[in-house]
Amino acid sequence: MYRKLSIAAALFCTQSFATYAASDIAEGTLLYQQFRCGECHGADAKKPFGKYNAILAGMNPDDIYMKTKRFVESRSHEQVLQGCGEPPSHVQIKKISDYLATLPK
Ligand code: HEC
Repeated sequence: MYRKLSIAAALFCTQSFATYAASDIAEGTLLYQQFRCGECHGADAKKPFGKYNAILAGMNPDDIYMKTKRFVESRSHEQVLQGCGEPPSHVQIKKISDYLATLPK
C-alpha cells in the first residue's frame, strides 16, 4: 500500500514538473522584460556587458541563478535594479535563469 502510493506520487511529480518547466520559460521571458534586465544585457541577452563582458544568453542556468541572487542579496546590483520596484524573488530569478539558458549563445 505504502509502496503504491509513493509510486503514484513520483509519477505525479515528474508530470507536473514537466508542465511547470514549460510555462516557467514563458514567464521568465516576461520577467526578463519586466525587471528590465535587457536594458543592460540586451533585449536578446546577447549584449556583452560589465567588466567581464558577460553574455547571459545560453549561460548555465545555475550560474545565472547564483550570480543574480548574489547581486540582489548583496545589494551590489541595487542601483542596477532600481526603478524595477521590488527586486526579483528567488522564484522569479530561477525563471529568468531557465529562460536565459534556453537562448542560443
Ligand atoms: C543597469 C544595468 C544592469 C541591469 C538592468 C541588469 N544588470 Fe546584470 N549585470 C550588470 C553588470 C554591470 C554586470 C557585470 C558584473 C559586475 O561588473 O558587477 C552584470 C552581471 C550580471 C550577471 C553575471 C554574469 C557573469 O557571467 O558574471 C548576471 C547573471 C546578471 N547580470 C543577471 C541580470 C538579470 C537577471 C537582470 C534582471 C533582473 C540584470 N542582470 C539586470 C548590469 C545590469
